[in-house]
Amino acid sequence: MSGLMTVVSLSYLVSAACYVIGLHMMRTPKTARNGNRLSSVGMFLAVIMTFIVALVKHQASAMGWILLIVALVIGVGYGVYKARTVKMTDMPQLVSLFNAVGGGAAAAIGTFDYLSKPNGASLAFAFSFPVILDLVIGSVTFSGSLIATGKLSGHVSGKPISFPGAKLLNGIVVLLILGSIVLTVGFPTNVWTLVLAIVASLVFGILMTIPIGGADMPVVVSLLNAFTGLAVAMAGFVIDNQVLIIAGALVGAAGTILTLQMAAAMNRSVANIIAGGFGTGDSGGTATDDVPVNVKETSADDIGVQLAYAKNVMIIPGYGLAAAQAQHEVAELAKLLTDNGINVNYAIHPVAGRMPGHMNVLLAEVNVPYDQMKQLEEANSMFENTDVSLVIGANDVTNPAARKPNTAISGMPILDVDKSKSVVVIKRSMSTGYAGIQNELFSDDQTSMFFSDAKKGLQDIIAATKEYLDQ
Ligand code: TAP
Repeated sequence: MSGLMTVVSLSYLVSAACYVIGLHMMRTPKTARNGNRLSSVGMFLAVIMTFIVALVKHQASAMGWILLIVALVIGVGYGVYKARTVKMTDMPQLVSLFNAVGGGAAAAIGTFDYLSKPNGASLAFAFSFPVILDLVIGSVTFSGSLIATGKLSGHVSGKPISFPGAKLLNGIVVLLILGSIVLTVGFPTNVWTLVLAIVASLVFGILMTIPIGGADMPVVVSLLNAFTGLAVAMAGFVIDNQVLIIAGALVGAAGTILTLQMAAAMNRSVANIIAGGFGTGDSGGTATDDVPVNVKETSADDIGVQLAYAKNVMIIPGYGLAAAQAQHEVAELAKLLTDNGINVNYAIHPVAGRMPGHMNVLLAEVNVPYDQMKQLEEANSMFENTDVSLVIGANDVTNPAARKPNTAISGMPILDVDKSKSVVVIKRSMSTGYAGIQNELFSDDQTSMFFSDAKKGLQDIIAATKEYLDQ
């Protein structure tokens, strides 16, 4: 038995090394795929070893085996199916659903282990404290992530939902959670303290997520991702499983760093998220909801002329570019222009699209040189010298409403597209972006709108630009 446990421990160490190296490789798109593969190998090894432990050390009963195998078949089957069929644009809600599953599973482990101790037994602090943290964080993550999934997929309103007395209710729920922690740690096992902790934490997860406005969702999803990692690490302490502790700590740390970066990108405070008055939750209406939108329409031909005679062109990709899968066309247009001596750069907003790094990944897929991808600050220093800004399926990340108070995106840094000499926006209609507010940029004097699907529109623009460049 001790020989087997040594093999298992060594395998867990190899798994952990795979996660760390895999995560490191995910820093750049060049090695990210292999990093993902390596981490998957580590996870596969950990699952196999856990099975062996269940079989040999814990001598699982026949019923236990059946349950393990059924759970594995359902989990693997659903995971493979979803990962293969999910649309790139639906990725954030899938990530959010995985967060919910991770948090829920961690909470279930804690609950089961706690309840399996004899009633009234006195439990060491080193056991009961991780259990209750696991339960609380896991339950908050579970309900919060389900609401986030609903918001991202449109099943729950993406607008901030607030109601009178929300802050008071939040305060009461937090007190109940703290009380349940003290009772669980201070007194012998009692089912009711666990029930209180679970119910209060589930309610807190919902209250924390419903006031979040559309544009702020990326921050809360990455925060819940960090919570998942913490809950899993706590579950590792509860059942004394090193690989869970390491994997959970890695997810918790990576998720925390991402949350801080996203919050900085959105000019939000993470403390506000947890307090529940986050972002737009308590603000009244949106100042730009009723902006009269008088816009100028343009044609592929006119855009072709503008581009052919421009010196500096900035491309601003957004969610619509990803939705239209128009990355090949955008790269083709950029190549056409650079081959004719025109400077082309891409302005990348940190929350453009629907997941962190969405635009970088999309453009890397079509081999856009990294030095052409300008991040927010650098891009903003270039707009004054830009002849044509081509906004493709982007909306919120260019919306000047962010510079005004009391809008759904107030305070969010934006790409200062309106400073360029001419702005062309390619989108299908006047409908709003993710935050649900109108964009004054579209009615600016220097802006013209090209109403089209991004892919089709770019094909037409390429054809028109070629004609003028050939002249
Ligand atoms: P959005 O503000 O969502 O605007 C995208 C625009 O693309 C829409 O106005 C839509 O207008 C247009 N569009 C959709 N399909 C199109 C197609 N096939 N062809 C052409 N245009 C199309 O996008 P954004 O500017 O990239 O901003 C991202 C938003 O999502 C931010 O509010 C951000 O906070 C939020 N968000 C980001 C993330 C991350 S981590 N990146 C995660 C969740 C939420 P039409 O319908 O008129 O075409």
